[in-house]
Amino acid sequence: MKNSRIDSLFDYPFQKLAVLLNGVEPRAGLTPIMMQLGEPQLPTPDFVAEQIHAKRDEWRKYPPIRGSDEYLQAATDWLTRRYRLPAGMIDPQQHVIALPGTKEGLFQLAQYAVPGPADWPEDGPPLVAMSNPAYHVYKGAAIMAGAETLMLPATMETNFLPDYAALKPETLRRIALFYLCSPANPQGTFADLDYLSGLIRLAREYDFIVAFDECYSEIYRGEPPTGALEACVALGGSMDNIVVFHSLSKRSNAAGLRCGFVAGESGIINGFNMLRATGGAQIPNPLLAAGAALWRDEEHVVPTRAHYAKLFDMAERILGNRTGFYKPPAGFFLWLDVGNGETAARDLWRDHAVRTIPGAYYAQTDPATGENACRQYLRVALVHDLDTAEEGLRRIAEYLGEQVV
Ligand SMILES: Cc1ncc(COP(=O)(O)O)c(C=O)c1O
Repeated sequence: MKNSRIDSLFDYPFQKLAVLLNGVEPRAGLTPIMMQLGEPQLPTPDFVAEQIHAKRDEWRKYPPIRGSDEYLQAATDWLTRRYRLPAGMIDPQQHVIALPGTKEGLFQLAQYAVPGPADWPEDGPPLVAMSNPAYHVYKGAAIMAGAETLMLPATMETNFLPDYAALKPETLRRIALFYLCSPANPQGTFADLDYLSGLIRLAREYDFIVAFDECYSEIYRGEPPTGALEACVALGGSMDNIVVFHSLSKRSNAAGLRCGFVAGESGIINGFNMLRATGGAQIPNPLLAAGAALWRDEEHVVPTRAHYAKLFDMAERILGNRTGFYKPPAGFFLWLDVGNGETAARDLWRDHAVRTIPGAYYAQTDPATGENACRQYLRVALVHDLDTAEEGLRRIAEYLGEQVV
């Protein structure tokens, strides 16, 4: 049976990059530098291995669907500390589910949130809203859940955040789920309390779910990014209509551990837990123990954050004179205006052995005109040690014709 939804899966940015660079060899004699993927390269704290070893008897057991009490409590305590929440606002047994990283949970949430045809709104099929550009998982999730995607422009003029205030009631009535990534991948800007509160109010008025993807919340240069739960407190304390996603992948240099969580409205969390009980993967017990220890420890996060700050200072030093360059306040990507991101990604790989990814691969291409709002951007992951990052940035500057000092 034909299933055209599957075509959307081939929109996967790294699949497109593989096609773009197919047969393109990096220049001989240069060590390739891989700056296309946001995979932290700093070491994971040693106590992770110790925790896993200490719990080795637990590998034979099926882990609890929702996560261990210890993990859920550690996540709750972390949220409460980080966002200065009132004690008791988060009940670990009602408001939190452990997730094996956040990617799968973000994807599955669309299956939970998007209604089947019997429950479709009168104005048309359900919509899943997100920014344009967006983390690619949201779009695949929307389409595979049977919704239409609504990609909202997120340009420099709007602090790279979608302008939800411009949405009309007939559109708002169709929204089932709104993904908001703050701090944003790829642009590294983040929403303030007013912006977050406004979106939450709108979600309550039109009864849709907002999934706040906050997995870059700990990688920041100045003030810590505001979280959606702080906006909930400002609005009176209810978590109705919202969930937040957090991950240890970036915060703790532990992408391979696959530990994160979702927290928010108890109704959503309980229903979503049933969906995950039916078809989700749990985190193994030894990894839950390590994850809990990471959420409890803030000491290892400080040098990680400082390292990224150095990398972005370095990027500013090397590329800061370029028109359109900005130092993102959070996250670990440079979002560079290079004229044509695809050309730059191909030429940088071929001539300078630096692998990056075109910004257009995270944005929508208009099928009628072929226009893509992020055509001019290149996403560069700043995740390496200082020497490797400097070499990569110098090669990029050389390609772009910048004076390197
Ligand atoms: C915006 C965003 N959300 C979620 C994820 C998923 O990360 P993980 O599954 O490792 O928690 C990523 C990973 O790159 C991301 O960039």
